[in-house]
Amino acid sequence: MNTLKNGNLKLAVQKEGRLTDETLEFLCKCGFEFESRKPRLFSTCRNFPLEIIYVRDDDIPRYVGEGIVDLGIVGQNLLYEQKAKVKKLLNLRYGFCSLVIAVPKESLIKKLEDLKGKKVATTYPVSTKAFLKKWKIQAEIVEISGSAEIAPALGVCSAIVDLTSSGSTLALNDLRILTSIYDSEAVCIANEKVLVNGKKDFLKQLVTRFKAVLSAKNYKYIMFSASQNLLPKLKKIIPNMKPPIISPFTKVGWVTISSVIKEDFFWKTVETLKQKGVPEIYVLPIEKIVT
Ligand code: PRP
Ligand code: ZN
Repeated sequence: MNTLKNGNLKLAVQKEGRLTDETLEFLCKCGFEFESRKPRLFSTCRNFPLEIIYVRDDDIPRYVGEGIVDLGIVGQNLLYEQKAKVKKLLNLRYGFCSLVIAVPKESLIKKLEDLKGKKVATTYPVSTKAFLKKWKIQAEIVEISGSAEIAPALGVCSAIVDLTSSGSTLALNDLRILTSIYDSEAVCIANEKVLVNGKKDFLKQLVTRFKAVLSAKNYKYIMFSASQNLLPKLKKIIPNMKPPIISPFTKVGWVTISSVIKEDFFWKTVETLKQKGVPEIYVLPIEKIVT
């Protein structure tokens, strides 16, 4: 049986839930090799001093704050809710969701003020209390431990505060969003000591890998051939264009051009290139950008 090694970085991830699969996929993309999680409590990484520990997501901020593990991947929502003493290292750009107030579709509650004097059930009492206080709404918060979506049908409350991502849980339970409290995504958090102790160099390497995968996600690599006469126009469309390559495979008077394009401008750039007479554009995904 594996045992946890003291010198290794210990990273807590959600055992079973919304973030589990995407987190493991993200770690694989970063090049960390480890055995499949089931039915383990932890996995040891084969090619990096890293242990992955599987726990309930609600426990992750506290475990990181208390130094039981060095790092954690968790929804930002839990940091707002638990206010644990941890250092946020990175937003991981997946696990997007919102904490919302929702009411039954047929409810007479149409605006925030209509919640006055009503019961609101939630597993997020801290966030709910802060939000209601901010808007000066006096409502009773009923703290529950799970499945908020069924509470209105059970007569426990008139409204709930819960996370929503695809919206299917709300739809299946005939609930509609009254308002949003905050947006959230997966984040990487660290115990403050790991930034300075003997594991800090491993942490630096791990963060470099995380960042390399995250930046690659926002870019595409494009390659195309075009007539040399078009170069001045093309440079205006792609300002960060790499020097054109004249290869033996290109037609006389033509050059091969490659560039990295930000996802946000991708379609606009490609369409403009086509309009300027570029016949064929090859698009390649980028795995990592190491800086
Ligand atoms: C949240 C929330 C809903 C579901 C909403 O639970 O409590 O059940 O996700 O997602 P949907 O809009 O895509 O249907 P989560 O997976 O975070 O579980 P947990 O509350 O047990 O941590
Ligand atoms: Zn949870």
